[in-house]
This record gives sequence, C-alpha cells and structure tokens, in this order.
Amino acid sequence: MKILVVGSGGREHAIIKKLNENPSVDVIYALPGNAGMAEDAECINISAAEIDRIVEFAKGHFVDYAVVAPDNPLVDGCVDKLETAGIPCFGPRANAAIIEGSKVFSKNLMKKYGIPTAAYEVFDDAKKALEYVKTCPIPTVVKADGLALGKGVVIAETRKDAEDAIISIMEDKKFGASGNQIVIEEFLEGPEVSVLSFTDGKVVVPMVSSMDHKRALDGDKGLNTGGMGTIAPTPYYTPEIAERCMKEIFIPTMRAMNMEGRTFKGCLYFGLMITKDGPKVIEYNCRFGDPETQVVLPLLKSDLLTVMQATTNGKLSETPVEWKDGAACCVVVASEGYPGSYEKGKPLVIEKEVKDRVYVAGAAFKEGRLVTNGGRVLGCTAVAEDLPKAIEAAYKIVEKVHFDNAYCRKDIGAKALKALQ
Ligand code: AMP
Ligand code: GLY
Repeated sequence: MKILVVGSGGREHAIIKKLNENPSVDVIYALPGNAGMAEDAECINISAAEIDRIVEFAKGHFVDYAVVAPDNPLVDGCVDKLETAGIPCFGPRANAAIIEGSKVFSKNLMKKYGIPTAAYEVFDDAKKALEYVKTCPIPTVVKADGLALGKGVVIAETRKDAEDAIISIMEDKKFGASGNQIVIEEFLEGPEVSVLSFTDGKVVVPMVSSMDHKRALDGDKGLNTGGMGTIAPTPYYTPEIAERCMKEIFIPTMRAMNMEGRTFKGCLYFGLMITKDGPKVIEYNCRFGDPETQVVLPLLKSDLLTVMQATTNGKLSETPVEWKDGAACCVVVASEGYPGSYEKGKPLVIEKEVKDRVYVAGAAFKEGRLVTNGGRVLGCTAVAEDLPKAIEAAYKIVEKVHFDNAYCRKDIGAKALKALQ
C-alpha cells in the first residue's frame, strides 16, 4: 500500500513509525516531512498548506490512503478535496474540523448540548469586550476564535492583561482574521488531562490518557510552548473520571456533531480540566496532539492502519483497539531560546542505538548533514513497565542526542509522579 501523511513534525514522525509496523505498507510519503524522518518515509517537498498540490500528488502517485495530521489543512478542507479525488482519508472534513477551527462554534455547541465547559461570552466588538472585562471575575481567559498556531489563548491575571489581550487580538489583529471574534471565559482550576480518541461518528474509542507540559521552564514557569514533553497515561485520569468523561463529554460531543450534520471522523482530541465540579472541556482539537501522539501511539498494541481505516469506513465498533500495559514518557529537546528566537542549522547527532526511540520534529539536511531546523527539534520517547521507569529511560535517551544549545525541561512527569504517591 502507498500511504500519504500530511505534516512535518514529531507527531507525524510518530504516526509514520507506527504505520510502518504494518507489513502491507510499501511506502509512506511525508508531505513535507523533515530530514529526520527520511529513513522512515519519502519526504516530498509540498507543504501542508498546498492542498491542491497534495491532491495532485496523491492522484499522480496512486496513493491508497491518506492521513492529514495538522489543524490548518483539516480546517481548510484537505480531507474533503482528497475524498473528492477518490482517496480515502483519516481526518475530519472541514465542516467537522470547525470544532477546533472556531472556538465560538465549539463553545456554542457545548452550551446547546449541555456539555460541561467554562462559562463564557462571545464578542465581535472590541469596545464591548473591554467594557465586559471591567467587571468580570479575574483571572479570566481571552481566546481568539480561529486558529492561531496554538498561541491564541491568554490567561489574564489582571484587568490590564485582559485589555491588552483584547486589543492585540481584535484591534491589532495579531492573529489576523482569527481574532474577528473572541471568547472570554471563566478561569478553571485543576489538573489538565488530554484524551485523544478515535471516532467514526458511531462510537468513540478513547486512547490512553496523557499529560502535556506546555510551559518552557521547569516547575511550569516561562512562556507557553507547543509542548515540552508528555507522559501517558496520566494518574489524574482515574477510572471514575474516565467513566464520567465518556458519559458527560465524549458521547454527547459525538452525538452533537451528528445532530448538527457535521459527523466527525478521525482523531477527536479532548483537552480536559478535572475541576472540583468534575471534568470540563477546555478545548477540542480535530487531530492528534503534538507531543501527546509521541507517548500515546507507542502504547497502542493494535495495528494503527487497521484502526484508522475502520474509523474512515465506520467500522470502529467491530475493530479491537488494544493498549499495552505500562507507561510512556516523551522529553522534547528544543533549541535554546524557544519559544522565542533561536538559532537553526546546528549539526544534529542521534546515536544509532536510540534512533528508533527519537521522533524528529525539526531537522533539515545541509551539505549532506543532518542539522536542527526548528524550535522543538526532537522527542526522546521511552516505554517502560511503569511511569518512573519510563521517565528515567526517556532522560537516558536525551543523553544520546547532541546539538549545540540543546535545551530540555528536567521535570517532565514529575507532577504525575507526585500524584501517584
Ligand atoms: P487552549 O489553546 O484552548 O488549549 O488553551 C491553552 C491553555 O490555556 C490550556 O491548555 C490551558 O492550560 C489554558 N486554559 C485554556 N482555557 C482555560 C480556562 N478556561 N481556565 C484555565 N486555563 C485555561
Ligand atoms: N499539545 C497540544 C496540542 O497538540 O494542541
């Protein structure tokens, strides 16, 4: 089989490595992929934004199945266009990807169908929003409606912070048209849990839970990043919480999308907060998380391609989705300075013995050598019988990857370990 994977990061590398475990996979094309995954996929120089070129490539190369991983092409209808060209896909159509593409849509959906989430107001006028934050409870949370490279959320600790966020999103248009509307919502407290799920619109099959570490520095300090590391499963996601989530959030969300004529097929990601009043939705993503995928997929015992195809074909209820015992930890190794400015082009060495456990997020070839090419460069990932061992093993892998100005958090999983005690 010929498989096409749209995307270029560590998440895509994890998906590609897992798909390669299926013996019927002959070739995987990564569009565009990155140099660090060249041994696992054929990287094609077409970006995830060039939907028409992606479709043309897929047709021209007789691709049997496509996986669209990143948010932007999903929201922009990449799956719709591939399907129209006769190529079966993993991922939602644009009318369902809106669950991530518009926070106003997702908040209104949750309100309409009684799905627990933070209380909120929607504004399309900066003046009214500025008026509102004069008296609303503080801290408050200001969110751009549309996609904003994961940066469209501001936790405002003061009224001034809230005003600044409103002005930069709505007036200065920091995220372009994504800021035409904003959501201002209640600040929730509690541990955060990520649950990725497979859904074909008939059933929801949650994957093992995971926990991201979004801040750049140890102790959850510093700026927000795309994610500095993950562990799975997270001890905060107890069987009781899981049961409530299934009943109060997962199934109601799937049904709500069906009721709206927007059946969601693919990976639906639930970003949850376990508050004292129970689990609530912080956000939906219409795709696999990054770097959650790097810890979730290594724990999948079943064949990923089979499960993905069952999702596409509406056959998920007949398809076993099994998980390994044990735990996984992914430590992201980034370029010093990330998420601010950082240098690229540093020679990158991944020692041979750990190659199969390193997902490459940002690398390029320069004069025949592998060099760094991004903020997040590598995800060093270990699976072990329990969480303490997985964390220890992941940090051992970190010692076997090398580039100048490499930086990683030293406390990935520490909070989860504390919760276990
Ligand atoms: P999002 O892009 O919606 O996931 O938001 C990014 C991060 O902001 C989340 O992972 C949370 O840590 C935080 N966040 C978002 N909404 C809230 C909220 N209502 N209360 C507290 N924290 C939030
Ligand atoms: N790690 C969070 C996300 O993928 O959105």
